[in-house]
Amino acid sequence: MRRHDPRPAPPASRPDAADWLLFEDVLAGLRSTPKRLSPAYLYDRRGSQLFDAICEQPEYYLTRTETAILARHAPEMAACIGERALLLEPGSGSSRKTRLLLDALPDLAAYVPVDISRSHLLEAARAVQAAYPRLEVLPVCADFTQGIMLPSPRRRPFRVVVFFPGSTLGNFDAPEAVRLLERMRRTAGAGGGLLVGVDLVKDPAILEQAYNDAAGVTAAFNMNLLARLNRELAADFALGCFRHEAVWVPSESRIEMHLVSVCAQAVHIAGERVEFALGERLVTEHCHKYTGQSIATQGRAAGWAALRSWTDPRGYFSVHYLETV
Ligand code: TRP
Repeated sequence: MRRHDPRPAPPASRPDAADWLLFEDVLAGLRSTPKRLSPAYLYDRRGSQLFDAICEQPEYYLTRTETAILARHAPEMAACIGERALLLEPGSGSSRKTRLLLDALPDLAAYVPVDISRSHLLEAARAVQAAYPRLEVLPVCADFTQGIMLPSPRRRPFRVVVFFPGSTLGNFDAPEAVRLLERMRRTAGAGGGLLVGVDLVKDPAILEQAYNDAAGVTAAFNMNLLARLNRELAADFALGCFRHEAVWVPSESRIEMHLVSVCAQAVHIAGERVEFALGERLVTEHCHKYTGQSIATQGRAAGWAALRSWTDPRGYFSVHYLETV
């Protein structure tokens, strides 16, 4: 590894082996232009809790809207999914919305929630198991972008259906999103299905408000990333020297979440020095907004055929069912 700081790092500030991948990836992101960190790092335990709080904010219509679509159309979705499926949910978080599907799918072979935050995953899996005692719940702690090994349920599933709600797909740039959809298609295998929820393009004012809630929860969620790096990688980000910003970028059809440096400053991570100019941005998240057409096109590029879709009366959000071609 190249060293840019002449001062030797104190040994205690070196990350543990387990944190080494995080460290290397974070450092590479901070050394690229523009500076960029993987959105997956937003979801430590605290980040996952803050995200749940975001979902309750009045401006953040996504969760409520998608929940209403699921509540209203779960029986039709269950009919698409069919009998004795294995339901795989990447980035399951609190598994709240999933229950609407589980209620409509009494014959599921297994539910496999996958999340990067272990404590959050296990808590959620326990709660689902308690609410659905006859369902086989097989949690997998993993970064779903790295691929998922399917566990073997007691009853052999007739097919694998991936449930990917929350417009999480929109957090990936187009080429990555296609790669992720391809990977899901391979995991699901022949005859597999994909039930995916995506947020739709709409009035920019509504979009920007959703990511700039008045209570400042989204800002806290964004800033938690820096607190996490301070904690886990012995970094020295001064939290007061960055501010949250979320802007609609029409040319890319996305909301971009940034942390903006409010002064010229240098930050150290395990002894490595990284400079920020006044006003320089660290990109922490892209939230792409879709049209019915664009999700079908993206699915098609990854070997999925879009069969059905459901939306809310305002046309804010949509859920799509796709099958392998
Ligand atoms: N995928 C959702 C979205 O794009 C949830 C999400 C991811 C989110 N990162 C976020 C919401 C940051 C608020 C802030 O909206």
